Amino acid sequence: MSLAPFRFADLRQASDGRAELLAGLLAERAFIPPKYFYDELGSRLFAAICCLPEYALTRSEAGIFAAHGSDIARAAGPGRLIVDLGAGDCGKAAGLFPRLDPAGYVALDISADYLRGALERLKRRFPALPMAGAAVDFTRSLDLPDSLLAPAGAPRLWFFPGSSIGNFNPDEARAFLARIARACGATASGGALLIGVDLVKDKAALDAAYDDALGVTAAFNLNVLNVVNRLLDADFAVADWRHAAFFDAAASRIEMHLEARRVVDVRLGEQSRRFVAGERIHTEYSYKWTAAGFAALLNEAGFSKLKQWQDAGGGFAIFLAEP
Ligand SMILES: C[S@@+](CC[C@H](N)C(=O)[O-])C[C@H]1O[C@@H](n2cnc3c(N)ncnc32)[C@H](O)[C@@H]1O
Repeated sequence: MSLAPFRFADLRQASDGRAELLAGLLAERAFIPPKYFYDELGSRLFAAICCLPEYALTRSEAGIFAAHGSDIARAAGPGRLIVDLGAGDCGKAAGLFPRLDPAGYVALDISADYLRGALERLKRRFPALPMAGAAVDFTRSLDLPDSLLAPAGAPRLWFFPGSSIGNFNPDEARAFLARIARACGATASGGALLIGVDLVKDKAALDAAYDDALGVTAAFNLNVLNVVNRLLDADFAVADWRHAAFFDAAASRIEMHLEARRVVDVRLGEQSRRFVAGERIHTEYSYKWTAAGFAALLNEAGFSKLKQWQDAGGGFAIFLAEP
């Protein structure tokens, strides 16, 4: 069978990243923004994390869609253009297609090759659905060329599952959600946001979710050094670093770091840096919200109409939000 090709645009800039990475790695408290996790291997490792017994988040979210999918679909309404923010393998959106009956699908992700492969497979499963993809850094812009947003008149459903919103601190999260709220209001046909949020829970469960027994999350975290080596012409040796992750209850967030096992001298392109033994590079926050706290955040961002569903254990919430 010959398939209509989906439209795909690489909207990343060639220079994206180098200056940002260097500034982070030369900062007094070194950091690497989490979007650099996702080269092809990083995306595959994240997919493996979602299968781990300790990482209940994915199963809790899937359980809500299984239990309340019809209700969620009724509330969202059919015929929408789904815009998937950080689509990954596109599996979550695809699982909703039969119920949501969308008019089209646009997948956005920073991991270009992984996304393209996922869309190729998805197009085989849903050959009649208009589909497009774009390699973008959504922290920079949510503006997409009209050529990708088809069918043009369909109301948009911004889809942001997996508690990816947790990677933003509360101020950044509010600002990011406000951009989506403005985008919802900017089209005559309107728009809504369907978003999944991991909720505060027991510290031991959260610690284990980000430091699993098999070491998959450790591999995911350490792989960012390979990404940095390529982008910056750096010479990090993965064996010099160990994965460190823990829940900070006072700040309501998981912190993920890479910790130097010994004194490490690293070339960072034209620059260099010495890390003392035990010094850390911060790689990710994953904020955990209360349902009430997240509802308030959505309100502050400009969403006034909210619906909410939770799993039986109260560990995860899905919100449908309209401005
Ligand atoms: C935590 S994973 C979630 C994947 C999938 N949506 C899910 O819920 O299982 C985050 C996804 O967002 C993508 N991503 C991370 N930062 C991004 C950015 N700044 N711009 C675009 N995509 C990004 C990653 O490549 C990855 O696929």
